[in-house]
Amino acid sequence: IRQWRGLIEEYHKWLPVSEKTPIITLGEGATPLIPADHISEIIGRDIKVYLKFDGLNPTGSFKDRGMTIAISKAKERGAKTVICASTGNTSASAAAYARRAGIKVFILIPDGYVSQAKLAQALVYGAEVITIKGNFDKALDIVQAAAKTYPVTLVNSLNPYRLQGQKTAAFEVIDVLEKLPDFLCIPVGNAGNISAYWMGFSEYRKAYHGQKLPHMMGFQASLSAPLVFESTVEKPSTLATAIQIGRPVNRDKAVKVKQDSRGIFAMITDAEIIQAYKLLGNTEGVFCEPASAISVAGLLKHRYEVPNGSTVVCVLTGNGLKDPDCAIQNNCAIFHKKLDPDIKEIVNVLGF
Ligand code: F0G
Repeated sequence: IRQWRGLIEEYHKWLPVSEKTPIITLGEGATPLIPADHISEIIGRDIKVYLKFDGLNPTGSFKDRGMTIAISKAKERGAKTVICASTGNTSASAAAYARRAGIKVFILIPDGYVSQAKLAQALVYGAEVITIKGNFDKALDIVQAAAKTYPVTLVNSLNPYRLQGQKTAAFEVIDVLEKLPDFLCIPVGNAGNISAYWMGFSEYRKAYHGQKLPHMMGFQASLSAPLVFESTVEKPSTLATAIQIGRPVNRDKAVKVKQDSRGIFAMITDAEIIQAYKLLGNTEGVFCEPASAISVAGLLKHRYEVPNGSTVVCVLTGNGLKDPDCAIQNNCAIFHKKLDPDIKEIVNVLGF
């Protein structure tokens, strides 16, 4: 078999790299576009739903797409240190790629709102981690200010290379479908990824003779929905901690994407997120993190805005193993009993 070489090599023509760029890769990209037959059936009307499962990237989230290039470019410029604020996925990814490049990595995370698994990743990958008593927005203010003053490269999505790398997810969607989707449903936190997909669709469609661009459907958790309310949320809160963000730095870009694509921003309750999270697990066999399930929850809620026969892609940004506590705490089991190791009792309870 031919091994996928990581997205910089596979898509280098579309990316700001040259022969001089050292390529720091873990083989990210080429994640599956999974047909979601059960969800398509629930929605009906010949609407075909696909899941772009970016939780299958090397560190378990879509952030690896942006980080392979952000870190490669930092290395090319001779950077010795990178820094980011994170709700857990950016930091895991930054740590893995930076350490692979031999670069030091500083991480600021909000106390109490980063899952154990994500923190474990940053620690094992060798990051220098600071937990602050403050939320993500505050952490991002601090790292931005630090990167302005000190010799340290910011690798949050304000770093333009991040979105360049992330746009390749749109390339893959088109390469697999052999057309552009009609709708893209996507979680929105700091609003980088929705902008990256739009850039990817806009650039890559040239190879598809200028087919129509998709409508972009961006979803936020009800109590963390600054784009829906069109104002900052001071104390954002949601069980989808990955997108617990009140002041998205890429707000202006995302607002333009919504307008240009004739899309929507909408908010989804935590209960609706959990419903979609369970549905994805127990009908499609796909375990994603709650922040990712919002794209399916959003589609289910807004299905009547999607015309008959449309092709819809829901982006699943992170792996469910990133936050197993969410599954345990939200009573996701259909059946889970503790019994003595006694065959009669077990068979009896199973009701053969
Ligand atoms: N889904 C997951 C799993 C995420 O981790 C994030 C963002 C998003 C969606 C939202 O993407 O910010 O581009 O709109 N996580 C960042 C982090 C904030 O620090 O890991 P966005």
